[in-house]
Amino acid sequence: MEHPAIESIVILDFGSQYTQLIARRVREQNVFSAVLPCTAPLQEIQNYNPVGIILSGGPCSVYDADAPPADGRVLALGVPVLGICYGLQFIAHKLGGKVSAGVKREYGHAEVSLLGKSPLFENLPSQMSVWMSHGDEALELPAGFELVARSATAVAAIENRATRIFAVQFHPEVHHTSHGTDILRNFVFRICGAKPNWTAQRFIESTVENVRQTVGPSGRAICAISGGVDSSVAATLVSRALGERLTCIFVNNGVLRKHEFEKVQQNLRSNLGLNVDAVDASERFLSKLAGVSDPERKRKIIGNEFIEVFEREALRLKQVSGQVEWLVQGTLYPDVIESRSVRGPSQTIKSHHNVGGLPEKMNLKLIEPLKDLFKDEVRRIGRDLGMPEEMVQRQPFPGPGLAVRILGEVTPERISLLQDADEIVVAEIKRAGLYTQIWQSFAVLLPVMSVGVMGDQRTYAYTCAIRAVNSEDGMTADWVPLPHEVLKTISSRIVNEIRGINRVVYDVTSKPPGTIEWE
Ligand code: XMP
Repeated sequence: MEHPAIESIVILDFGSQYTQLIARRVREQNVFSAVLPCTAPLQEIQNYNPVGIILSGGPCSVYDADAPPADGRVLALGVPVLGICYGLQFIAHKLGGKVSAGVKREYGHAEVSLLGKSPLFENLPSQMSVWMSHGDEALELPAGFELVARSATAVAAIENRATRIFAVQFHPEVHHTSHGTDILRNFVFRICGAKPNWTAQRFIESTVENVRQTVGPSGRAICAISGGVDSSVAATLVSRALGERLTCIFVNNGVLRKHEFEKVQQNLRSNLGLNVDAVDASERFLSKLAGVSDPERKRKIIGNEFIEVFEREALRLKQVSGQVEWLVQGTLYPDVIESRSVRGPSQTIKSHHNVGGLPEKMNLKLIEPLKDLFKDEVRRIGRDLGMPEEMVQRQPFPGPGLAVRILGEVTPERISLLQDADEIVVAEIKRAGLYTQIWQSFAVLLPVMSVGVMGDQRTYAYTCAIRAVNSEDGMTADWVPLPHEVLKTISSRIVNEIRGINRVVYDVTSKPPGTIEWE
C-alpha cells in the first residue's frame, strides 16, 4: 500500500540508535515523519511527499567497507536536508569535502559556539551544550559550505544556504542537547516550511482515503485479529474505508485468557462495529499441543496451526462472498525496523509467530496502516476512533498466548489454573491503579510441585510466578518492584482461591538476560 500523500519529513536511517527519536521529535511538532532505510530508492522517498529530509547518525565511518550504500542523489531532490552526525559526514564525503577517520573521538557532552547567523540556530544562544558521539571529522568542507558552529575540537555545524543543506555533528534529538528541539523546529518549520497539521484525525482521514483508493470499489480484505490494540486499530481504520468488505478473523487457539474469546468479540462487534468471524479452534490446537513441552515446538505448532485455520477460513469466506485479495496487518514501526537492520537481521531468540508468512503463502497483498507509527501513537489513534479505554490500554499479549506462560506441557487443567491466576494478577494490578503504568504484568505457571499446608491439610500443588516489567518496546525490559501490599494480596488470593496452586514466587529478572515471556 502506498502512503497517504500528507507532507512529511523523511528520515533516512543509517543505523543510529537515536533514529526513532528523531521521528518522534518531529511528530511531536504535529508534522508527519517517516523513517526509511538509508538504501530506500528515490521513488519510495518521493512517495512520502517530503518537504525535508533528515539523514540520521550511524555506527559506521564513511570509509568503512560496509558503510551503508545510500544514494547521493537524495542531496539533489531540491528539498532541504539536515544531516545529523554520520549524516554530516555523508554529506561532506558525497559532495567532495574531506572527512578524516577521526583520531580524537568525541563522545558525550560538548560545548559548541556559533560562529555567525544561521536559520538552523535562529533565536538560539551562541553557546550551547550538546551531545556528541562520533569519531570522524569533516576536515575540508565541500564547495559552497560554510562552518556555522564549532566545538573545542571539531566541526559542529555546517550549511550551504543556497542548496538548503544543513548538518550538525551532534544529536539534536536527545535530551542532553540543550535547545535540540528548537534546532529541529527551526529545520522543520523555518527551513522546510512544514505545516503543523499532522493530527490523529488527519492521519485517520488520509489513511481511510488511501485504503479506499488502493483497494478499489469492490475489493475485499481479511484481517487476523487478536483483540490487542494494534490489530484492532488497524482493522477499525480499514473498516472505515471498506465497511462489510473487511472480515476480521478471530481464532480461539485454546490458550487465550479467561473469557477472552467472548469479551473480545463483544468489544469488536458492539464498540467498533467490526464484521467479525470468530472461529473456535481450541480443540484442534490443544490436541496438537498434547504431550509437547519444548518451547520452540510449542510455538511452531501454534504458529502452523494458526495459519491452517486462517487459510481454511479465508477459503470459506471466498466461497461465500467472492475473491479476497488483501490482508490487513497491525505491524508497527518497531516491528519493521527489527526486520531491516542496516547491519543485517538480528539473531532469532524466539520465533514470534503471529501471521508471518501468510501473505506469500496465500497470495495476498498487504495493507499495513500502522507501519510508520509507535505504540503510543497507535493508542492515540485508537482513542480518536472511539475505542474503549480498556482496549486502548491493554498490555501486550503474545500470539502463542498462555502456552508460553505454562512451562512444560500445556493441558486443559494447567490452562484453567493459569487463567484463574492471571485474572487475579490483572485485577489486583488494576485495582492498585498500576495497570497502565506497567508494560506487562502477568502470571506464569511452573510445573514445579511443592508441599504446603492449608488449614490442617497438607497440600502438594503447582507454583505460580508473578512477572511485572517495564519496557519501551519489548526489546529490553526492567522488572518492576510491585508494592508489597499488592504482592501480598495477589499471593494470598491465588493460594486461597485457586485449588491446585499453593506457592507464589516473584520474578526479579530483567531483559536481558531474561526474556519477558518465560518461553
Ligand atoms: P520476549 O519474551 O521475547 O517478549 O522478551 C518480548 C515481547 O514480545 C511479546 N511476545 C510475542 N508477541 N507473538 C507476539 O505477538 C509472539 O510469539 C511473542 N512472543 C513474545 C512479549 O509478550 C513481549 O511483549
